[in-house]
Amino acid sequence: MSHIQIPPGLTELLQGYTVEVLRKQPPDLVDFAVDYFTRLREARAQTSSVPLAATTTAFGLKTPEPDSIPVTDENGDTESEDEEDLEIPIPNRFNRRVSVCAETYNPDDEEEDTDPRVVHPKTDEQRCRLQEACKDILLFKNLDQEQLSQVLDAMFERLVKVDEHVIDQGDDGDNFYVIERGTYDILVTKDNQTRSVGQYDNRGSFGELALMYNTPRAATIVATSEGSLWGLDRVTFRRIIVKNNAKKRRMFESFIESVPLLKSLEVSERMKIVDVIGEKSYKDGERIIAQGDKADSFYIIESGEVSILIKSKTKTNKDAGNQEVEIARCHKGQYFGELALVTNKPRAASAYAIGDVKCLVMDVQAFERLLGPCMDIMKRNISHYEEQLVKMFGSNMDLVDPGE
Ligand code: CMP
Ligand code: CMP
Repeated sequence: MSHIQIPPGLTELLQGYTVEVLRKQPPDLVDFAVDYFTRLREARAQTSSVPLAATTTAFGLKTPEPDSIPVTDENGDTESEDEEDLEIPIPNRFNRRVSVCAETYNPDDEEEDTDPRVVHPKTDEQRCRLQEACKDILLFKNLDQEQLSQVLDAMFERLVKVDEHVIDQGDDGDNFYVIERGTYDILVTKDNQTRSVGQYDNRGSFGELALMYNTPRAATIVATSEGSLWGLDRVTFRRIIVKNNAKKRRMFESFIESVPLLKSLEVSERMKIVDVIGEKSYKDGERIIAQGDKADSFYIIESGEVSILIKSKTKTNKDAGNQEVEIARCHKGQYFGELALVTNKPRAASAYAIGDVKCLVMDVQAFERLLGPCMDIMKRNISHYEEQLVKMFGSNMDLVDPGE
């Protein structure tokens, strides 16, 4: 039996052409092919020593060489250092991912804005509910007005039933989801063992990782009650959120590099933090955290000062409990709000802005997923909290039980 040999480079060559067709949607495929391959030949003439298929497409888009194709690590995250250069969106009528290397997209490429917009019409009532659900979504925090309104236009409502799998680990990523209501379990299967790594309780969002890093879904999300979600399709997510992440990396990279807590992380780990954080601003005197509240975020101070206050009572004077006493001041580069996330208890103290304050905020799921390597440092600092309180108030001081 004779076999047909596929010449080296053919697949990449055709993928490059296909991707350009999908991006540009030309009216005549043959004319476009002539133009595309002519430019490609010209580009090869200029870089004649390098094999064509492994370098650049006619429009300057890189075809990834094997070393730069993102590698999936055990968390389902990619390790490629130059992800930002790579990606091109596949229009949403192709629901499944074609392949990682065909799907390159340059987040800085302004031409992407000529793509057709996805719009799901909504009633005024739906729009109100959607805005309410999205107001604290960290990934939307750095969007400008126009970007946010395009995101909201593209979102669609999805109702879910108890036990419904919204996402299955290992699948390709189709949508990002914002929770309007309902509770959801996060299940991760590793070495044939499935365990629950957390829950969403009527707020938050999920499904960003597969869309950001072109990886299979890293967890299974199962509804544990009836619920309602707002979905955002992959193409719009990548066109707006991933592009905005490139901007966030430029804005926050050097600051994140300077945060002492994060020094022990790899550069790529720090960049993953930048991808999921949101920036929040507070006015002088504004309460950032309230003692006793349920906790779902972690804070790093980007600018300004934060005062930590605690309600206390002494063993002899149980009535003095509602007075707040300052126990610490945190400054630029320092963090707070980790204690309740680590201990799984309500907030142990309140935090107030002194002057204008900006914080980078991370949700509890990202905190647990990304800050594991910093846990020892945090626990060491937590062990000083008690000492610090005893030093300030003496040993007959009780903290008010946050639940009281
Ligand atoms: P994605 O991988 O697209 O789909 C599953 C989602 O679960 C993932 O994005 C995250 O949004 C969310 N998730 C929450 N906690 C975890 C975790 N510990 N590991 C992986 N994914 C998680
Ligand atoms: P958390 O309990 O989540 O919210 C209040 C935060 O105040 C707490 O996390 C710590 O980050 C911070 N904090 C600073 N000093 C103390 C202290 N001595 N005791 C408790 N919390 C403190």
